[in-house]
Amino acid sequence: MQQKTDISYNSAGIEKPPWLKLGPRFRKLTVAERRIRLCDFLDMSEDELSATGFDTEMCDLADIMVESAVGYIPVPLGVAAGFKVNGHLYNVPFAVEEPSVIAAATFAASVIGRNGGFTTESTETVMTAEVYVETEIDPDSRDVTGLITEVEDELTEPLAAMTRRGGGFHGLDIERIDPDTIAARLHIDTCDAMGANILNTCAERVRPLIEARLGGEAIMAILTNAADRRVTTARFSIPVDACARGGRSGLEVAQRIVKANRIATIDFHRAVTHNKGIMNGISSVALATGNDTRAIEAACHAFAVRDGAYRALTEYEVRDGALHGSLRVPVAVGTVGGAAGFHPAARFSMQVLERPDARTLASIMACVGLAQNYAALSALVSEGIQAGHMRLHANRLAWKAGARGDEIAELADRLSDEGVFNSEAAEHILAHIRRRG
Ligand code: MEV
Repeated sequence: MQQKTDISYNSAGIEKPPWLKLGPRFRKLTVAERRIRLCDFLDMSEDELSATGFDTEMCDLADIMVESAVGYIPVPLGVAAGFKVNGHLYNVPFAVEEPSVIAAATFAASVIGRNGGFTTESTETVMTAEVYVETEIDPDSRDVTGLITEVEDELTEPLAAMTRRGGGFHGLDIERIDPDTIAARLHIDTCDAMGANILNTCAERVRPLIEARLGGEAIMAILTNAADRRVTTARFSIPVDACARGGRSGLEVAQRIVKANRIATIDFHRAVTHNKGIMNGISSVALATGNDTRAIEAACHAFAVRDGAYRALTEYEVRDGALHGSLRVPVAVGTVGGAAGFHPAARFSMQVLERPDARTLASIMACVGLAQNYAALSALVSEGIQAGHMRLHANRLAWKAGARGDEIAELADRLSDEGVFNSEAAEHILAHIRRRG
């Protein structure tokens, strides 16, 4: 793909920014028109264009989901089969581009599933919105007394449907966060919705009331993605023998997992990678189910630093001949509303999961995060991570070299057997396979 080199200048001789070259009305065009404009601007071939969307209906869907849509990106969707969570076997959809993620989850789900599976606990599905008011009023003063009842009354109408479903208003806290500012925190049980819209609507609705009673002007009214009242804990316990790997005994691997986890509680650099591995699973399921991956990631990383130092989200111990692992994370997901309610791929994923409610989905996601972490640590402290990764990387090299169908597995096997992982070798071996016929 080659970008056109002719540079456009405006009358002042200043180079026009690329969006202007696409035309100031670019965002007003239809998806099809935008695609043609972009294609022309970048001298793209039809093939290159088709990589960003060939299905008209999906392009139309993209257009109603985001502004200036030009197509969609096909991220692989896979299913890790057989996740035993609270006694029930789930097949879990992942949308992810990284080759080892589903393989790792499936490995851990199978080891843990054979030994009792995962158990979970979760809090209620309560989310919080905040109205920040500039005021010097004492939050404990009499002026503030009764505000909670007034706020609850004001929210009766916008929360009517949520209240009928068993959720709704869950309280109000007032906290001074600096000498000039008070945060009024509004808690709402959003049931099976992630809740962003209803929280923001409610926060804006009560903003004038809160301003009047706190005697100041609100700077802003918005939900917090911290979701620290919506926390799920996943656990497993497996006999240490089940941990044996890479020529090391189960006890040795289990003890090394505990040490590896400890390192991630004391060393910030390791903690980031450790938690990234956990999010490999959680974010992939979030994406597959049409949930907000950025909100969940922000919440989990903030949770990891809640006591001032960024640490591993997991805990492990070896006790009574077993390895006990746990993960505690805020997972604010919705199973109704948002993309989960209308995107065909998200709806498919919900079907694969047997249409869970939000609490169940959060529980499954916490188990997936824990599984991902167990699989990573078990490899890292035994045979290392690269052997498995390179095997999966070989598939990509095979594809890039032009292998298709059965050729892919054959070429990947040959690359792995010979221990060479580069494009040149892949092309060479592919030519050989084809000559052989
Ligand atoms: C790779 O995406 C994730 C790991 O680096 C996680 C970890 O190191 O714990 C394998």
